[in-house]
Amino acid sequence: MSGLKAPKGTFDVLPASAAAYELVETVAGEVLGRAGYRRISTPIFESTELFSRGVGESTDIVAKEMYSFDDGGGRSMTLRPEGTASVCRAYVEHGMHKQQQPVRLWYSGPFFRHEAPQAGRHRQFHQIGAEAFGSDRPELDAESILLLSEVLEKLGVAGIRLRLGTLGSTDVRLDWREKLSAYLRQNEDRLSAEVRSRIDSNPLRAFDSSDPSTQEVMQAAPLLLDELTGDDLDHFETVKALLDAAGIHYEVDPRLVRGLDYYCRTVFEFSSDRLGAQSGVGGGGRYDGLVEMLGGQPTPAIGWAAGIERILLSSEASSEGQDSCELLVLSLDRGGLEAGFALAAQARAEGISARLEAGGRSVKAAFKHADKIGAQFVAIIDADGIQLKDLASGEQVVHPSPSVLISTLRDKITS
Ligand code: HAM
Repeated sequence: MSGLKAPKGTFDVLPASAAAYELVETVAGEVLGRAGYRRISTPIFESTELFSRGVGESTDIVAKEMYSFDDGGGRSMTLRPEGTASVCRAYVEHGMHKQQQPVRLWYSGPFFRHEAPQAGRHRQFHQIGAEAFGSDRPELDAESILLLSEVLEKLGVAGIRLRLGTLGSTDVRLDWREKLSAYLRQNEDRLSAEVRSRIDSNPLRAFDSSDPSTQEVMQAAPLLLDELTGDDLDHFETVKALLDAAGIHYEVDPRLVRGLDYYCRTVFEFSSDRLGAQSGVGGGGRYDGLVEMLGGQPTPAIGWAAGIERILLSSEASSEGQDSCELLVLSLDRGGLEAGFALAAQARAEGISARLEAGGRSVKAAFKHADKIGAQFVAIIDADGIQLKDLASGEQVVHPSPSVLISTLRDKITS
């Protein structure tokens, strides 16, 4: 079993980074919690059908990137590539439409996509996400965007840019899609093979193509924003006005499309100039038809997800978590073992970070070890009793009992 490594595109979150991951979750939980979002956890794997129906057969995610497997009973399961479809499923399954609307939910956890790994793009990555169900009001869109902006700002994500777009409601989008397909067909010879193959199934993705010739064609493509009227236009204008009022800077991007099929009306994406090619930190939008498509009642909804790795890459939160040790407990002989064991446990119960030496080191080596782990104090236990050494001052004092030692220690640490 030598040379085993984590699979390509996956990685271990080592202790030095675990604190940064926790910080992202904590900040998201605080910001979202104050706005009425409650945490939900859904399974890591779901039926493949949930994603093929929910995310869309013609998307890259479903067509190329899913980790699917037979569960042994002839059912196809998939490691979740995203969270929205799962949260919708849970909303329907648990009859959440009977609760006070909007129902606001947030989540955090690992997701899986079979993509070509590169900086900021992994096969197992982590997202925080927020979804709000049961209101089609533009204020919910603006609130959702504002909350992601607040999370990113609190985490110190640098060089942020927010792009805002709209995909209109179903009818106008379908008309525009037809026009777009027709336009792409007229220019077929200048499109990449991939875009050409999706002219009918997913013409919108042409806007996202990195192929220079396709990009040139897309410069003159019909834009939905130019055809927006009535309620769709009002909705978009209100979202913009609310973001303006909240002092959120954004750019309207009429070419913004997202890699998932369920969106309508508002779509948005936050990126950071601190990231390379994979500059998207987080994004989302409205998905008013998804709950119904997954078997629920017609339920408007909006949400977003942000990649924790990309947040950390583009923020100060990625600074390494500190190892901290206030007390190292050193039992010099077998006779002092129980007392040392109990002392460390009692110190921890009193809120002091305390570790047993536990390496069978000599006194000299144990003090070197204390230095290396940044311990402030060492308790030395032997047949004569307990002594406490302050490593900063060098002072060493005999203590009559563990309780006296702990209260002395507490005073010294807090002073
Ligand atoms: P998404 O844009 O596919 O949206 O992913 C959201 C974020 O997840 C991205 O902006 C990026 O930070 C991160 N991400 C995606 N793929 C990878 C990867 N391979 N490696 C590292 N990070 C990655 C969604 O997932 C939608 N469910 C968002 C949403 C929620 N829309 C409505 N509600």
